[in-house]
Amino acid sequence: MITDAEKLDIEKTLAYLTLEEKLRLLSGDGMWHTFGAGELPRVRMSDGPHGLRMTSGATTSAVPSTCYPTLGMLANSWDPALMYSIGVGLGHEATAMGVNLLLAPGVNIKRHPLGGRNFEYLSEDPLLSGELGKAYINGVQATGVGACLKHFAANNQEDLRMTSDSVIDPRALREIYLKPFEIALEAQPEAVMCAYNKLNGEWCAENKKLLTDILRGEWGYNGAVVSDWGAVRDRAKSLAAGVDLAMPDSLGAFEETLRKAVANGTVPEQAIDDALRRLLGLIDNVYLEPYGDFDADAHDRLAYNAAVAGLVMLKNDSGFLPLTRDLKILVCGENAMSSPIQGGGSSHVSPLRSLSPLDSFILRGIDVTYCRGYSADAKLNSSCVAEALDAAAGSDAVVVFVGQPAPTEGVDRETLDLPPEQNNLIAELTAAGHRVVIVVCGAGPIAMPWVNRVRAILYTGLNGQNGALAAVDALYGRINPHGKLAETFPADLSDIGSDFGGERVLYRESIFVGYRYYDAIDRRPLFPFGHGLSFSEITYDHATVRRNADGTAEATVTITNKSVRDTYEIIQVYVADKSGRMLCARKQLAGFIKAFAEGQTTTTLTIPLNKSAFEFFDAKQNKFVTIDGDFDVLIGASSADIKFTLPLHVDGEFNDNVPFPAAYTIPHRAKISDADFTALLGAPIPSVPAKPKKGEYTLACCINDILPTLPGKIAKSIVMRRAKTMGDKTSAEYKAFVASALFTPLSAVAAMSDGAMSLNTAKGIVEMANGRLFKGLKYLLKKN
Ligand code: BGC
Repeated sequence: MITDAEKLDIEKTLAYLTLEEKLRLLSGDGMWHTFGAGELPRVRMSDGPHGLRMTSGATTSAVPSTCYPTLGMLANSWDPALMYSIGVGLGHEATAMGVNLLLAPGVNIKRHPLGGRNFEYLSEDPLLSGELGKAYINGVQATGVGACLKHFAANNQEDLRMTSDSVIDPRALREIYLKPFEIALEAQPEAVMCAYNKLNGEWCAENKKLLTDILRGEWGYNGAVVSDWGAVRDRAKSLAAGVDLAMPDSLGAFEETLRKAVANGTVPEQAIDDALRRLLGLIDNVYLEPYGDFDADAHDRLAYNAAVAGLVMLKNDSGFLPLTRDLKILVCGENAMSSPIQGGGSSHVSPLRSLSPLDSFILRGIDVTYCRGYSADAKLNSSCVAEALDAAAGSDAVVVFVGQPAPTEGVDRETLDLPPEQNNLIAELTAAGHRVVIVVCGAGPIAMPWVNRVRAILYTGLNGQNGALAAVDALYGRINPHGKLAETFPADLSDIGSDFGGERVLYRESIFVGYRYYDAIDRRPLFPFGHGLSFSEITYDHATVRRNADGTAEATVTITNKSVRDTYEIIQVYVADKSGRMLCARKQLAGFIKAFAEGQTTTTLTIPLNKSAFEFFDAKQNKFVTIDGDFDVLIGASSADIKFTLPLHVDGEFNDNVPFPAAYTIPHRAKISDADFTALLGAPIPSVPAKPKKGEYTLACCINDILPTLPGKIAKSIVMRRAKTMGDKTSAEYKAFVASALFTPLSAVAAMSDGAMSLNTAKGIVEMANGRLFKGLKYLLKKN
C-alpha cells in the first residue's frame, strides 16, 4: 500500500507537467491505461462486474478469473454482506493481476425486462440497487483497488445505446434513475463512469447538469469522472461538463481538439488543471504494483455460496422439491449439458472453472437419465420429443433445463418467450401426465405458459461458475434456496407497453417502474418483485413501527421458522403514502433485511428505515422533501405478500399539494399522451435531432450517419463482411458487433479497433463522405 509519505503532491505535479502532457493525460493510453507522463504511474483498468476481465486489447480473450454470479443474480440475495465479500474477492484478483480500477458496479435500473444489459444490473428498485452497489464498492475498495460506478445515468436499453435519448421527468429521474447512484456514492467510489446515451436531449458525456451540478455540486462527489469507452464526441464540451478522463486512447484526436480549444480560449487552462487534480487524485489513490496472489479455491467457494444465495425457487407445489435420491429422474434439455453462466460483452470473463448441470449431478453422485428433449432443428425436434416421452415413462419426475441463449451487451433481448421447442416439450410432458420440474437458465424474466402445469420452478439465471452445482444442490435439498427476485417477472409483455428501444425514449411511466408499475395499473405479474420460496415455512407476527426524532424509523417483526430446516428469510418493508399530496407509488421499498432463521426458532428483527424513506422529490423546489401526512408501513415476504400494514404519521415540512395529469391515476404507459408527459417533464419533449448531412460530417459521426454517401456504404459493407466471420446472424454476438460498428463514433471505432482502423483512415472516410475526395485520400494514404 502507498503510505501517506509516498502520496503524490498534486500541485507540484501539475506545476512540472507541460501543457502537452496535461492534454495527453486527459485521454487513455491504449484500451485500459491512463497515460504515464514522466514519473507518473499508469493506472490499469479492467472490467468487472462479476469477475475480473483482464484483456490486453478490446477483443482479446481474458486471463482466467473467478466467474461469480452476474449482478442480476447476486441481487436476489438481498445481502449487502455478500456483495461486500464479492467486492473483496474481485479486489484480490485485481491486485494480483495489477488492476487498479475495477470498472464496476453498474447500478442502472432495470426499466424494461428486455433490457440487454439487465443481467449486469442489480434491480428495478433504486434502494435495493443502491444499497447492494454500495456494499460491493466498499468491498472492492477495502482491498486498495478503486471501483468505478457506472453508467451515469439512465442507461436502460442497449438497442441504439450510443445514440438514444432517455427522456425522463425530474421526479422519476431523482427518485428512480439517479437514486441508486446517490446511495452507492456513499461508499465514495474512486471513479464514476458516464453513460453513452443522452439524457433529456444532452449526451451524458457532455451533461454539465449531471456530471457537475448534481454529482459534484449537490452530492459532493470529489472523485474522477471517466467516460464510457467511446462515449466522448466533443472533448472540449465533455471536459467542460466534467469528464476528467476520456477512455480509451483517442489516438491523438482529443489532444488536437483541446490544444485548439485552449489556444482559442474556449477551454481555460484552469478547467484542464481541475480535471487533472481529480485524475491525479485517482492515480494516487489506486495505483499499486501487482502484489499478492488470490486463493482460487476460496473464491470458488465464494462463487458457490453466492450462487446459492442468488438462485430463486419460484414455485414448489406441495413441497415437491427437494427430490430424493431414490427417485427415478429424467433430465432433459440442452441447457443441462451446457447452460449459460454469464452474458456477453465487456463483462464476459474466462471462468477459472465451470460445471454443467450434468457434470454437477455426476459430481454429487446422483444417478439421472438424460435425453436432449428438444432441438432448434424442426426435423430433429419431433424425434427428440418422442425420445423424451419414451424415456419419461416410468420416471418419477422430469427435470427440464430451459432458457434463452445468453444475452449480450449492445443488443436488447427480443422476446420473453423461450424457443418454441422448449415450451412444446414441457407441454407434451405435462399433457402426458409427467411430474415436471423446470430449471430456468439464462437471463432475466421469461414467459411461462406452462406455469400452472409444472410442479416446481427454480430460477438459476446467469449464476456464475458454480451456478449449476448450486441448482442441482437445491433440487436435492443439499441447500435450502432462499433468494428473492430483485425484479418482477411479467405475465405478458403487453402489460408493459412500449417506449423502449427507440432513438428517443419517453419514460412516460415516470416513477412507475417495476412493481410500482404493476401495482399502479393493477396487473398481477407472473412472479412479483421480492418473491422467492424456501423449503422452510416462515410465519410473521407482532409487527411494530416507530419513527425516531432524527427522521429515521424502524420496523420490527417476529418471524418463526416452523420447519426443522434452517433457512434465511428476506423481509421487506415498504412505505405507502396516504396523504395524496403528490403522485406516489402504491408502495415503495424502504428497508429490507436478510435474516438467518434457525429451524423451529422464533426471532425478532429490527429493520431500519432511512430518513429518505419518507422523502419525495419536489420538482418545483428542485429538492427532496418530507411529506407531512399519513403513511402506511407494510411489512412483507414479497411485494405481493404483505403480512402487516401499520399506520404511521410523519411530521414533514411539505404540506403542499402537487397536481398531476389525470392519466397518471392509472398510468398505463400506452395511455399517457405526449401532453400528459410534457406536464410532468416541465419542459417540451426534446426533438430527435436532424441527421448530419454531407459537408457536416465529423469524427463524432458513426457509419450509420454517413450511410447516404458512397464511403458510408463501403464502410458498412466492410463491417458486414467482418460480421459474417462472427457466425450466426441471429446470435446476440453478431448483432452486438454490427450495432457497435455502425453506431459508434468513427473516432471511437478507430480507438477500439485494436489497430484495424487508424485515426487517419477514420479521418479519410469522414473527408470523403463530406465530398472532399482528395483530402480524404491523403489521409487514407498516410501510414497510420
Ligand atoms: C461498457 C462499459 C465497459 C467499457 C470497457 C463499454 O462498452 O459500456 O461498461 O466498462 O466498455 O470495457
